[in-house]
Amino acid sequence: MQLLDGKIISEKFKIKISEEVVAMRKNSGKQPHLAAVLVGNHGASETYVASKMKNCEIVGFKSTLIKLENKISEEELIKKILELNENNDIDGIIVQLPLPAHINPEKITECIDYRKDVDGFHPVNLGRMQRNLSSFIPATPYGIMLMLEEYGIKTEGRHCVVVGRSNIVGLPMSILMARDSNPGNCTVTLCHIYTPEVKLHTSQADILIVAVGKRNFITADMVKPGAVVIDVGINPEISRQTKTGYKLYGDVDFDKVSSKTSWITPVPGGVGPMTITALLKNTLLAAKQRLL
Ligand code: GUN
Repeated sequence: MQLLDGKIISEKFKIKISEEVVAMRKNSGKQPHLAAVLVGNHGASETYVASKMKNCEIVGFKSTLIKLENKISEEELIKKILELNENNDIDGIIVQLPLPAHINPEKITECIDYRKDVDGFHPVNLGRMQRNLSSFIPATPYGIMLMLEEYGIKTEGRHCVVVGRSNIVGLPMSILMARDSNPGNCTVTLCHIYTPEVKLHTSQADILIVAVGKRNFITADMVKPGAVVIDVGINPEISRQTKTGYKLYGDVDFDKVSSKTSWITPVPGGVGPMTITALLKNTLLAAKQRLL
């Protein structure tokens, strides 16, 4: 078993991004600028957004965090997004999900100018991605593709099973792995909540990608020997030793599964850092495209 180390690779990418930012500022005076909108005080979202802002700073981007009250109306939020669309200094916009129940996330996603949609959630970007045209690719699947490419994992002709069909991870992941691309060109099975026997599929997977949000969802009996296993889960649990502080667990029972695999991502330090790096790459791309 070998580890797919997202921390090491993301550091390499971030050095490259920083160098490009230095060159961009020298050549055009432009500095990439990401705006993040955070509605309410969802604990995990606050942590994720803070990490995104910190990483912008690390690579030399400008970043603006717009914190809005939980009770903000859908209309007011849309107005804020339209302002960001119009703001010439801003290259990328993300609205952190989940949103409060009274706000329709689909409507909000469609309001973001697709040329600034560095999360790649807008239907234009999703459609262009499916057609293999240049687009912003959602950060987590994009980060996984970068990781597979970096480690030279062969995907062509292999059977990829994705568990979870969220708009953020599972669904775009299944499209990318089925696409005529490298990585890609897989035979893809997409399992979800209505799949009667998930194990039937996962145990056939050469490449298994899991994004369900349940600790230990994937046990050793569900994994084919020699498989590549990508664990997207981030499940915080209070540490048993100290009873304080959280420890993060993936969706895969790492201790029992890892010895069966050829490659596996750890949690933390696997997919998580790659997600942020992919968002930075999308923001740099948005800034470059706005220079053209
Ligand atoms: N919530 C969980 N993951 C993401 C993400 O990648 N982007 C946004 N906007 N919200 C999220």
